[in-house]
Amino acid sequence: MKGIVRDPSSPLGAAVVDLPDPPDPGLVEVLVRMRLAPINPADRLVIAGRYAPPEGLPDVIGAEGMGIVEAIGGNVSALTPGMRVILLSRGNWSEWRCVPAADLIVVPDALPDAQAAILRINPATAAHLLDRLALSCGDWLIQNAAGSSVAGWVRRLAARRGVRTINVVRGTTPAASSEIFLNDGDDLADRVLEMAKSQPVGALDAVAGTATGRLAQCLAATGALLVYGHLSGEPCSIPSTLLTTKSLNVRGFTLRTAEAAEDPLRRARRYEELGALAEQEPEPIAGIYPFDQLETALAAAANKPGGRVLLSA
Ligand SMILES: NC(=O)c1ccc[n+]([C@@H]2O[C@H](COP(=O)([O-])OP(=O)(O)OC[C@H]3O[C@@H](n4cnc5c(N)ncnc54)[C@H](OP(=O)(O)O)[C@@H]3O)[C@@H](O)[C@H]2O)c1
Repeated sequence: MKGIVRDPSSPLGAAVVDLPDPPDPGLVEVLVRMRLAPINPADRLVIAGRYAPPEGLPDVIGAEGMGIVEAIGGNVSALTPGMRVILLSRGNWSEWRCVPAADLIVVPDALPDAQAAILRINPATAAHLLDRLALSCGDWLIQNAAGSSVAGWVRRLAARRGVRTINVVRGTTPAASSEIFLNDGDDLADRVLEMAKSQPVGALDAVAGTATGRLAQCLAATGALLVYGHLSGEPCSIPSTLLTTKSLNVRGFTLRTAEAAEDPLRRARRYEELGALAEQEPEPIAGIYPFDQLETALAAAANKPGGRVLLSA
């Protein structure tokens, strides 16, 4: 079978290779014929050798994806061949996967394949981040990299909870928006106070580096800051006086750990809710490329595509 692996010797950093065919599913396993898998920032970091997940660099790339159940093990009862599923483990840029049944989520019937393929990571991350911050209706939340897919989901889910968002971007702010959008910069905290007339009690940081300190500066005393991305590639930097004088609560977040601790029924319900939202308001899809157009697909994903870029197996 074909799969895409990290290949530091290739100018692309990745290559389409022949891999051993998948085994028949074991008693509690499921064989999945992969259909679609997106290119996420984390995949691009893996390819660049800048991000190793805790379990080490995977052979096969691909943080998320969806496919069709082809065969099931003897003790699998909740899934049948033909069902569409989302995979909860990495290694999805591959034609086939053989995984434990517990690592699969059934795709809601009305959700298109491409939306299912991008439901696993960003929407669930946004939902978990908001749960962690435990904000109340009327609270302000500030987030950077606000043009990202995760940030878009944070806005959608925050609005449903009555939480108001301040959205920090590094480039041009959107011309018209019902939300507050601000450019990042040293005077961010002053501008936030001027616009919101209040200090946020929660902050979400996907950028790290000095951007973390700028978000921390905006927070009210005892506010919480969650770091969930490293887009700048720099270590987080926060003036220590801010931490002490405001008694800030700064933590890291990763979806994998959050989901590992989650009750499987609760997790399945979360994906049902997110699937319903994705069905109502789908994320734009910028392009779908077969594996043999990997180079074009990676270039498209790197080039501000205005939507998600996916690979089709
Ligand atoms: N911890 C977790 O479990 C978890 C889960 C999901 C995602 N993430 C992380 O969340 C982040 C967003 O993911 P996504 O898929 O939603 O991203 P995305 O849709 O590809 O968008 C990336 C955004 O980040 C901005 N950006 C890129 N580099 C930046 C920098 N150096 N400084 C400021 N802004 C920068 C881009 O702004 P421009 O338009 O200006 O280029 C763009 O708006 C990524 O870091 C990803 O790894 C983490």
